[in-house]
Amino acid sequence: MRVSLEEAAERLNAGGVVAVPTETVYGLAAGLDDARAVARIFALKGRPQDNPLIVHVADENQMRVLVAQVPGAFAELKRFWPGPLTLVLPANPNAVPAAVRAGLATVAIRMPSHSLVRELIAKTGPLVAPSANLSGRPSATAPEHVEADFGADFPVLDGGDCVGGVESTIVALHETGWEILRAGAIAAEDLIAVLGSPPLPSAVTDRPRSPGQKYRHYAPATELKSFNRKEDLALAAMRAEPGGAVLGFDDSPRGALPLVSLGARGDFAVNLRRLYAALRSLDEKHIAYSFVDADFTRTGLGATLYDRLAKAAKGS
Ligand code: TXA
Ligand code: MG
Repeated sequence: MRVSLEEAAERLNAGGVVAVPTETVYGLAAGLDDARAVARIFALKGRPQDNPLIVHVADENQMRVLVAQVPGAFAELKRFWPGPLTLVLPANPNAVPAAVRAGLATVAIRMPSHSLVRELIAKTGPLVAPSANLSGRPSATAPEHVEADFGADFPVLDGGDCVGGVESTIVALHETGWEILRAGAIAAEDLIAVLGSPPLPSAVTDRPRSPGQKYRHYAPATELKSFNRKEDLALAAMRAEPGGAVLGFDDSPRGALPLVSLGARGDFAVNLRRLYAALRSLDEKHIAYSFVDADFTRTGLGATLYDRLAKAAKGS
């Protein structure tokens, strides 16, 4: 059910949960201080209680209330705001309910750039919002995806298709440096250029890492088999049983199998924008298995595309 900006704000202010568009993916939003609505988000998604939520703010003042301290690197990183960068910062425990943080001492905060959600936050205050998909399913990049997971009656603020199509990059700031907890819409190279140092290797940093990363992710029902070389994919496709498909690019070898294309090989922005809709379409078409063309460079947003394809393949 599509709702207007005013109705979305009314529902949220009355303690409801509403799906909202962002520049990355749709989010399942609730008021930060609304314990019952926050609990409903976990229940609706089937999300484990130890997986914390991202708080979405409209301006820097809202962020400052939520944190215990602003690390020095924020001065550089804030050039990515508003936009798809989530920062894990020391939480002000009085301002961020423990359920939102899953009991951690930190809080994940981002300032989305999508105009509709910014207008909404201006009317409601900070909103918590995990991606608007059932836990373990591909994220939602269109209102139809939200409705497929939560039903046609579920309230959705319609912002059309998401322009980015992949989640925010999550960065944690430590005394000794910085760490990427989740690859995302901002490439590591862009963060390195701004921060002037490479990220810490994950193994040497403090626990906890992003709790969400231990759960099954982005998984379609279709069984995914990944190929890192075009030649191997070509051979497998040639010998393939019917009933499968190739998830790849316009020039992917496919034999007699149907091709679900993410666009031109190496056009990562377009590939990522199409990815979740493509994963969902494999299930809608009841494709039993799919060969995945993973023959592309793992630099820039190619690293994010590879991360999501590998997780989808592992989960299926
Ligand atoms: O682009 C996005 O980030 C989207 C849109 C809706 O904003 N949101 C999103 O939320 O992807 P979600 O819940 O699907 O993923 C949030 C991730 C999870 O892996 C969670 O474990 C991690 O953020 N996270 C949240 N709070 C954290 C914290 N305090 N420390 C480390 N990781 C945290
Ligand atoms: Mg998610």
